[in-house]
Amino acid sequence: MLRCPRHQGLGAAVRRGLAEAVARDAVTVAFCDADGEYDPGELESLAAPVLDGEADYVVGSRFAGRIETMAWHRRVGNRVLTRALSWMTRTPLTDGQSGFRALSGRAASAARVAHDYNYAQVLTLDLLARGFRYAEVPISYRARTSGDSFVRPLPYLRAVAPTVLRLVGDTRARMSGVSVHHPLFARFYDWVAPMAEQAGVARHRDRLTTGLAGRVLEVGCGNGLNFGHYPPGVTEVVALEPESYLRERAREAATRAPVPVTVADGTADRIGAPDASFDAVVFSLVLCSVPDPLGALREARRVLRPGGELRFYEHVRSPRPRFARVQRAVDTVWPRIAGGCHTDRPTVETIGTAGFEIVELERFDFNPAPVPLPVAPHALGRARR
Ligand SMILES: C[S@@+](CC[C@H](N)C(=O)[O-])C[C@H]1O[C@@H](n2cnc3c(N)ncnc32)[C@H](O)[C@@H]1O
Repeated sequence: MLRCPRHQGLGAAVRRGLAEAVARDAVTVAFCDADGEYDPGELESLAAPVLDGEADYVVGSRFAGRIETMAWHRRVGNRVLTRALSWMTRTPLTDGQSGFRALSGRAASAARVAHDYNYAQVLTLDLLARGFRYAEVPISYRARTSGDSFVRPLPYLRAVAPTVLRLVGDTRARMSGVSVHHPLFARFYDWVAPMAEQAGVARHRDRLTTGLAGRVLEVGCGNGLNFGHYPPGVTEVVALEPESYLRERAREAATRAPVPVTVADGTADRIGAPDASFDAVVFSLVLCSVPDPLGALREARRVLRPGGELRFYEHVRSPRPRFARVQRAVDTVWPRIAGGCHTDRPTVETIGTAGFEIVELERFDFNPAPVPLPVAPHALGRARR
């Protein structure tokens, strides 16, 4: 029995439960709202698709099963929210709000509940966007006759809608296969980058790549500005770039590189490479833009050999609280004009959360532009798998 010492929200409780199950190497993890509306006797049929290896994420569907009692306004609300979730995930769903679900150990370990208030939509958005196999199982439901639900329509929408809206763009992009499409920003970046290089970025790239050797994976290589900095000990660079214009520029840069470089289409969250197949993974000015930095870092860790190195050069959330507050405010508009780049990501902390040991870290302010920018705080360093 686990107890949360204070009330943190349903989303936080599910997150904690999943983490505990993962720590115990669970093959299947199921959860059920504890208000008596669902029948725990149906657990076996709920978990069956996971145990049979047919699905990673199973939702018990009341609307595909039997509903004994449900207030009309809840019925309407559930239908509307389920329709919306189906549209967002491009998946025919019949019950987006069910409180009875099962996950495979792999899905439980990857799952991210993006806010504390609730898990219903965000868990489905997250798992379906990352390609986990989905199934529904009909279940029975009976509205409770005593006690109060924490769900109040307006506060619920106010708490949940911003996170859901933030996830929708990422989810639809990831599910459509066109994962990154910023044609204007790509051309702008290609145009301003040479000036930024001269203003000091090139020096940071030297420090980023110094001492690297063996097989290197570079994630989100842009137009290939790191390629000229790789030292001779590097035997091969595999560079991923999802944006088509920048990928072509990177292919041109690869022909001039001092080491062999192959440029491929690919995103940070799904690196199509075997486990432990690289000696080093390089991220530069990328973790600000990927939809899911923690997922990207975990994926990087997966493809790194034990003892392999993560090299990073990123602009990050300022350690100075006042500046960080400005970054947070600016972040409401910045991603729209800067190709999805976020100003206030705690990237150094996320690297630690992903399981890396940071062995070298330098924090500094750097602004290559003639005007003050909210992306001046940087971090450059090395971390070990
Ligand atoms: C500011 S540019 C930096 C490019 C390059 N790394 C550099 O140092 O100049 C950000 C890059 O991240 C890439 N990017 C955005 N989302 C990504 C994702 N999900 N996976 C991999 N790369 C991504 C963009 O296409 C773009 O090339």
